[in-house]
Amino acid sequence: MSERTLAIIKPDAVRKQVIGDIIHRYEQAGLRPIAMKMLRMTKAVAEGFYAVHRERPFFDSLTTFMASGPVVVLVLEGDDAIKRNRDLMGATDPAKAAPGTIRAVYGASIEANAVHGSDSPETAQFEIQYFFASMEFAGG
Ligand code: CMP
Repeated sequence: MSERTLAIIKPDAVRKQVIGDIIHRYEQAGLRPIAMKMLRMTKAVAEGFYAVHRERPFFDSLTTFMASGPVVVLVLEGDDAIKRNRDLMGATDPAKAAPGTIRAVYGASIEANAVHGSDSPETAQFEIQYFFASMEFAGG
């Protein structure tokens, strides 16, 4: 079933100048970008995005990191896109991510883990509307 998922190329990956390689990996995997932009989150925007994690001990560090530099946010569309993107990313902790996954290749730590991807249809819906208005869907 065709699905949409939200992906973020995080500040660490933008600093490493691997935006192009990561987008290439999405496309090679059949995940089609249908909306995309580069932006820098404020701390408040990052806190709103990760609101489900607000009670976690890493919340302040995570949201400070996400506001530390520009990111690229994308909506990816394809069959089973949510799970397929998670498989492509690898485990949250790059040290545990399968070889060849984006986080294994580019992640440095559980916080600086290169990419984000929605983890369920409900979070995908929330996360997509958090960053994109309907008129920004150039490709879908
Ligand atoms: P992400 O997929 O963006 O969703 C939540 C993020 O919180 C996750 O990637 C990690 O970068 C971060 N995270 C999860 N667990 C921890 C942790 N134990 N310590 C620091 N950051 C974490």
